Amino acid sequence: MKEESVFLLGTQRVNSAGHLEIGGCDTVQLAEEHGTPLYVMDEAHIRATMRAMREAFRRRHAESEVIYASKAFPCMAMSRIVAQEGLMLDAASAGELFTALRADFPAERIVFHGNNKSRDELDMAVRAGIGRVVVDNEAELDLLDEVAGALDTTQKIMLRLTPAVDPHTHRYIQTGRVDTKFGFNIEGGGALRGVQKALTNQNLEVTGLSCHIGSQILDADFFTMGARLMCEFLAQVKTELGVTFPDLDLGGGLGIRYLPEDAPPSLDDYAEAVVGTVRDCCAKLGLEMPRLHIEPGRSLVGEAGTTLYRVGSIKRIPGVRTYVAADGGISDNPRPALYEARYHAINASRATEEELETVTISGKHCETDTLIEDIALAPAQTGDVLAVQSTGAYNHAMSSNYNRFRRPAVVLVNEGRADTIVERETLQDLLSHDLVPGRLRA
Ligand SMILES: Cc1ncc(COP(=O)(O)O)c(C=O)c1O
Repeated sequence: MKEESVFLLGTQRVNSAGHLEIGGCDTVQLAEEHGTPLYVMDEAHIRATMRAMREAFRRRHAESEVIYASKAFPCMAMSRIVAQEGLMLDAASAGELFTALRADFPAERIVFHGNNKSRDELDMAVRAGIGRVVVDNEAELDLLDEVAGALDTTQKIMLRLTPAVDPHTHRYIQTGRVDTKFGFNIEGGGALRGVQKALTNQNLEVTGLSCHIGSQILDADFFTMGARLMCEFLAQVKTELGVTFPDLDLGGGLGIRYLPEDAPPSLDDYAEAVVGTVRDCCAKLGLEMPRLHIEPGRSLVGEAGTTLYRVGSIKRIPGVRTYVAADGGISDNPRPALYEARYHAINASRATEEELETVTISGKHCETDTLIEDIALAPAQTGDVLAVQSTGAYNHAMSSNYNRFRRPAVVLVNEGRADTIVERETLQDLLSHDLVPGRLRA
């Protein structure tokens, strides 16, 4: 197969051995040295995307911040890269917050999210000196007010609002519609009441409003709609309550290429949709241009990740299909099962072969954990390395120990170097929280 006809992302290329290479590292060798399944993260691709995203927004509006939604792929090394690239970071749990803080991520550049934050989580965030807490609901306003009061401080907050935008993504990853657990609904007046209430909380300072309309959005018009509805609400707040806020956070959601035919908006088109709409609406509605925040996760790291698997059994059912079994599955990538997510793969051991065979890549769990149905691959043989692309977001982050599988390692590759940034779990790790009470020992 000619290299031009292979779907390659970031620094991926086919080397002279006919193997897939990422960040100057031969993936067949990586699989040999680090074992499989293995998540491979392309550092140059991550850094280039972060820079391009930041630049696309700053060029249009100097007061823009790109906030990495760490849920996509949280680990200490990522927190370092995010800090080095000048981005802020979104944490949505005590664990994500702890990870960033332990990696010395500046607390004042962290935004804390979540629809049901506990007192302990809020206490941890306020004590750490977190930049903004994005408050989801009225009960949280009071809880956070209490926590901040007890610590004798004023906490800066934003309010999570729900504009009724319905981006046509999978219904499980839509978050901005009216029927959602997230945030204060603009429709029905909940958001206005939330703002009114927040302004009365003694220990809270409202700096702005936030929304997140959904994920894997491939049409920039949805960002335009979300931005417009948020600006109209800002204008309503100004008219009815006489206040304006300096910050506007329009969330994440930009889609990526999982398949060769996927065509997400370019970073420039995305930035133009967001900044252009906010600028136009503010001019029309007589508002000052706010500081703009966006919170991308998937689009910063998704295409930079590749999962390597070793092919095991191959089952041919004549006239039906051929199953090629990978040595992972739903435990390292639950997205096909959760969202019917589709992926593309390359036989990394035979990336130049011309003759392709349509097969189904299955996992090895006690489920029908199909990773990819009907993909044209260079005919796989037991022992080949398969590379499933665009697994950098919500794969390691959503991995589990189902069937007592060990979570795979993550290596960061760049210019021929491969550094382990998350170690593979050991069998012993699997037992590290198991306890056998004395009465069961007899
Ligand atoms: C509040 C919030 N911000 C940002 C994100 C990141 O979204 P994405 O990875 O689609 O860019 C999410 C994802 O669920 C979210 O809930």
